[in-house]
Amino acid sequence: DDQTDDGGPLAGKRILLSAGGTREPIDPVRFLGNRSSGKQGAAIARAALRAGASVTFVAAHLDVPPPAGVELVKVETAVELRDAMVERVAAADVVVMSAAVADFRPARRHHSKIKKRDDVPDAPIELVRNPDILVELVRRRDAAGTQQLIVGFAAETGDNGADVLAYGRAKLERKGCELLVVNEVGTDRVFGLDENSVTILAKDGSQPQHVAGSKDEVAEAVVVRIARALDAR
Ligand code: CTP
Ligand code: CA
Repeated sequence: DDQTDDGGPLAGKRILLSAGGTREPIDPVRFLGNRSSGKQGAAIARAALRAGASVTFVAAHLDVPPPAGVELVKVETAVELRDAMVERVAAADVVVMSAAVADFRPARRHHSKIKKRDDVPDAPIELVRNPDILVELVRRRDAAGTQQLIVGFAAETGDNGADVLAYGRAKLERKGCELLVVNEVGTDRVFGLDENSVTILAKDGSQPQHVAGSKDEVAEAVVVRIARALDAR
């Protein structure tokens, strides 16, 4: 009926989206962080809102203000981000993991500042692996028999071993999500910039889609691709 025609390609859809970079506390004054600005995630949230979706925006550290019009959930660490996503996934039609999640966290959080004493080892911080949230969300979806469309992101650099897209394809396979938005990063590329260049890979084997432009243009393309994947079901 006209409800679905009115508000754009994602009218009535509920998007659960994570953005920004997690911060893993070392002691009261230090953390392990990353260079994610949250700009691309915020742009996708805005594009999804324009397309008629409702958006729950799970925000790790952002360099930009969170977009207006979302339901905002603030988190700091990967474990908090995981809990926030797991708690809300059942109510979502689409899950987008654009957050930069720390792969490791300090094994313990020191409750007082670590001092530069001569009697402590050179590297006093032991790391443990964080949960892979994207993989867990895919597994839970499959176990629950629900239908969320799950979208991952990958920041890749090519090296002697393989090029960016080969790494992207391997990652799509490993994660099990429907779509993977791959971008090529380096110290002077992408992070914090307003321009982006990505390739959208799909599990269904459809042609890789290259998109270059502003983060808003990339977001628009990702949202169109999500709407197309939902329509194809
Ligand atoms: N991701 C996640 N949980 C993690 C690490 C990553 O959910 N602990 C998600 C990211 O949000 C992103 C996707 O997985 O959507 C790919 O992240 P990336 O760091 O590129 O993949 P990793 O599996 O961590 O592989 P690596 O860093 O070794 O390339
Ligand atoms: Ca990683």
